[in-house]
Amino acid sequence: MTMTVTRVLDAFVARIDGVQLRNDHSPATLAIIEDALDRYAVVVLPAQHLSDDDQIEVSKGFGGLSYALNHGRAVGQNARLRPELYDISNLDETHGILGEADRRRQWREADKLWHTDRSFIAADTTYSFLSGRVVPPTGGNTDFADMRAVYDDLSASMKARIADLEAVHSIWRSRALAGGVDFRPDEIATMPPVTQPLVRVHPRTGRKSVVLASHASEIVGMPLDEGRALLAELTAFAVQPRYCHSHVWSEGDLVIWDNRCTMHRGTPFDDKAWRRDMRRTTVQGPSTYASATA
Ligand code: OGA
Ligand code: MN
Repeated sequence: MTMTVTRVLDAFVARIDGVQLRNDHSPATLAIIEDALDRYAVVVLPAQHLSDDDQIEVSKGFGGLSYALNHGRAVGQNARLRPELYDISNLDETHGILGEADRRRQWREADKLWHTDRSFIAADTTYSFLSGRVVPPTGGNTDFADMRAVYDDLSASMKARIADLEAVHSIWRSRALAGGVDFRPDEIATMPPVTQPLVRVHPRTGRKSVVLASHASEIVGMPLDEGRALLAELTAFAVQPRYCHSHVWSEGDLVIWDNRCTMHRGTPFDDKAWRRDMRRTTVQGPSTYASATA
């Protein structure tokens, strides 16, 4: 079977068939995927059934990995997965469903807010690879928004207003919005806030996107309320159904997205009854954020 890239459902999500990445992650194959990511922004590769080693190997073909810090664990508590893999599950280190009061449950709540991965660090988080190892029978979709289309559709006056603005991004902002938890000073100290422009130019495609995330807490140089109101207005515009796609998981799916031009969020499911074992690898490079006027 030959590898095919098919546009699915929404303008920015492609489905790729005819390749098994565990057997083939040659540069030529990865180049087809990266080209599809440039053209679309999210790609779905069904029935990949990757092992941890496979997923790490494939992801490394796209750049250096970032490592999971496993925040939200109690002191001395083991991680369930090795550090190349972000644990996007409702499971504890024995692979059982997290207890109701487990603070790792609280930590993952923020995934249900619209965000881009790791906009709270200065480096560029380029691609995220999320593999569905165990998926619940219903719910637990991942929603995506196309921030290039969002930018294109902004009014000329809004484009002018945001062209040179920067936002402060902090992981503690999204955690607070998700309900908060008493995070430890040692956890907080590892993730100081950073600033990111509100508009960025994609280094591969030259297309502009609006940079938003639930990590964005304020606009630099603007009163707090005014900045938050602007972020809320832009976010409400961005997550209109016409810019969004909801991925319904099947076991074995690999979904790859470009954080430089999308936002995403998880959707609820009965997380006390069903296991949802998702593992994410994340590729990071030096910052290529560039302001709209650069
Ligand atoms: C992620 C994420 C949402 C989900 O993996 O980065 O936000 O659907 N996932 O689990
Ligand atoms: Mn995420």
